[in-house]
Amino acid sequence: MGSNNLRQLNIDNINPHVREAKYAVPGELAVRSEEYRALLAAGSTKLPFKQVISANIGNPQQLDQKPLTFFRQVLSILENPALLEKSDVLVNQLDYKPDVLERAKRLLAAVGSVGAYSASNGAPAIRQSIADFLERRDGFPADQANIYLSAGASSGVNTLLHVICANDKSGILVPIPQYPLYTASLSVLNAACVPYLLDEHRNWGTSLETIKAAREKAKAEGINVRAIVIINPGNPTGASLPEEDIRAVIEYASQERLVILADEVYQTNVFVGEFISFKRMLRQMQQEQPGKFDQVELASLHSVSKGMVGECGHRGGYFELVGFDPEVQAEIYKFVSIMLCAPVIGQCLVELMVNPPREGEPSYELYTKEYNAIFNGLRERATALHKAFEQMEGVECGAPQGSMYLFPTIKLPPRACEAAAAEGRTPDEFYCMRLLEATGVCVVPGSGFGQKEGTLHFRTTFLAPGTEWVGSIVKFHNDFMNQYR
Ligand SMILES: Cc1ncc(COP(=O)(O)O)c(C=O)c1O
Repeated sequence: MGSNNLRQLNIDNINPHVREAKYAVPGELAVRSEEYRALLAAGSTKLPFKQVISANIGNPQQLDQKPLTFFRQVLSILENPALLEKSDVLVNQLDYKPDVLERAKRLLAAVGSVGAYSASNGAPAIRQSIADFLERRDGFPADQANIYLSAGASSGVNTLLHVICANDKSGILVPIPQYPLYTASLSVLNAACVPYLLDEHRNWGTSLETIKAAREKAKAEGINVRAIVIINPGNPTGASLPEEDIRAVIEYASQERLVILADEVYQTNVFVGEFISFKRMLRQMQQEQPGKFDQVELASLHSVSKGMVGECGHRGGYFELVGFDPEVQAEIYKFVSIMLCAPVIGQCLVELMVNPPREGEPSYELYTKEYNAIFNGLRERATALHKAFEQMEGVECGAPQGSMYLFPTIKLPPRACEAAAAEGRTPDEFYCMRLLEATGVCVVPGSGFGQKEGTLHFRTTFLAPGTEWVGSIVKFHNDFMNQYR
């Protein structure tokens, strides 16, 4: 007790903005789920389930997803270049294909050692490889000088928000529901989050009217709205924005001089429709109406964490800037250099992601087989989960679109809402807590992402293997509804 009083830090004197930040993904439910996991590992038989299913977080390799062989073979050599001295063993006994060795040599030549710092914005050869990828993807040129490697997309978002938010009157338009990185980072920065609702009835698309109204309201409150965040494909919604929504956002951003932050980390997790990058759309619009969109400032982010790569533990990502003032860009460079550089092994993974084995190359067949199996597995599990939701009373969920999540609406009986209030919880938190206690399945309440007033949701990933856990959700739901009806 006594020694506690001698501490400099207590909960009332640390940075209040850190305290205020809310981040529900690894929140109370996740902590409880870890406690259950520990109990099960210690042999407890007191719980009504045999395993904990972490459907709360898009963490593919924590669940079923295996790393892509080509990627890990290359990384193994990057971490231990001495393996190259035994290339006969690699090729003849461990089935490393010659293109694995070539790529590893090329990356080692580019970075020296993965144990060394790189240039602050990332190794030049890796930035060039990303620029080449962007050019292939979008059909428009990309300049490696505008690319910044980051420790996952999160670190890129952190950099950009730090630079954009000048003071507590700086506001950022953030979609609701959203991945809470944005609201939490804005809280920490003591800047203003300007929420705009996505339209659930239009497949979670953007509504320009809603965006305009949100901006006008913020402006009237003295907020200087400087940027708009778009998550495409969406988290937690999974939806890919149609071309007209992207065009409308670019038009509006151009007119109102808003920086566009396009979070495109789920660009390959698309089951329905197609992914259209903001960069491609912007360049197309610039071509169609020369001069009109030249001043648009766009930052697009990507990551090795999602897609079929799922290497989120390696912390690799990048952002590309378009249309930024060179002096601002120099400050961004300075900001990233304060952290020295993104993890170099993560940078190498980014290179592998944007430049995977091509047709005709020795590793292509296995890479494609593994990649497609992951893609199809995700789609199958999403469909099975969606089918289960369709059977559940008071649950509505659009067909799976992509990303790694489903975000069903739930309608709970008034008695359940009263019981939630008695526990000091929102009804969706209460529902998710009871679900965890009964089944071991951990999901995130919709309130963790923001949701339209008067609606309730939860977000679940469809990464976990097997179908037993899906059945347990259906059973829990029936019991819950019967208990509180
Ligand atoms: C929309 C979105 N952006 C960014 C991130 C962070 O990704 P990273 O692991 O690249 O930092 C996530 C992670 O779930 C996400 O869903």
